[in-house]
Amino acid sequence: MAEKVVFDTDPGIDDAMALAFIDCARSLELIGITTTTGNGTIETTTRNALHLVECLDIPASVFRGAAAPLVIPAGSPPTFVHGEDALGNTDPRVEQREVSSLSAAEFLVDCANRYPGEVAIIAVGRLTNLALALELDPGIAAKIGRVVIMGGAFGGNGHSGNITKVAEANIHGDPHAADIVLAADWPVALVPLDVTMQIIMTDERMLRIRAAAGEMGELVWQVSRFYDAFYRERHDIDGFPVHDSSAVAFAIAPALFDTAVAPITVDLEGDGMGRTRRAPDADRPEHESCASVDAEAVLALYEETLVQGPS
Ligand code: BDR
Ligand code: CA
Repeated sequence: MAEKVVFDTDPGIDDAMALAFIDCARSLELIGITTTTGNGTIETTTRNALHLVECLDIPASVFRGAAAPLVIPAGSPPTFVHGEDALGNTDPRVEQREVSSLSAAEFLVDCANRYPGEVAIIAVGRLTNLALALELDPGIAAKIGRVVIMGGAFGGNGHSGNITKVAEANIHGDPHAADIVLAADWPVALVPLDVTMQIIMTDERMLRIRAAAGEMGELVWQVSRFYDAFYRERHDIDGFPVHDSSAVAFAIAPALFDTAVAPITVDLEGDGMGRTRRAPDADRPEHESCASVDAEAVLALYEETLVQGPS
């Protein structure tokens, strides 16, 4: 039986690619999408989530998340990475689909209580919604099956930060929420920059996906052009890292990654704000975090899953 998944996301170009991946993965059943502020304002990311479910004919409902982080200000969206509309300036529109009446945090609580032990959360944006859900009902920590997070950086493989020298964007955007999520006693796996920056999608592979994956292939090709140009120019790499799809790959095929197990803390202030640390002596539960990856196998999994298409 497929594992029930709530996708917590700030679409976002790599978020859109990850949503397509989940939709096509036979081992995952998408039961809802919760939106976060990050790659755009909450209005933008929620509009984009609705646009994507409409275009890709995905039946899952969309739940609007928090407009601001728990403590720090929201900041400006990174339009230079994801475009003015956060989907690579592709002019996303919504004709029919509407946002649901429950908030993202309420939906997460509802899922945990309705399907105890059965739901995975794949979180690829700031962790505000997860922290708010834990605040609403701390009992959900014992009821969520697992939490897979794209976020953080530990300096492995030379990757220590993308928003500051030491912090990754999803954690830096709401460090207090991330710290609450990492302090909770639920099974967490972090998929940090240490591995996501190794998983580089080339034009060659994108063109194959575009040719073989129908409308979905065309959509991921179109939205990713802006992102591809950004990474080629700014980071001088031949393609772009599929950050959020890497978390989906971990959820589907964890054996493609090596992980470390330790308590994880988040720096909450100063120049290091948002820095994640493996802290063996910290008084909190141990969590997994990826240290290395078979990048070629992850990219092949992405390609074959999209080419196979939705079930
Ligand atoms: C993360 O930040 C966002 O811009 C991406 O969508 C990804 O989730 C990478 O640091
Ligand atoms: Ca994201």
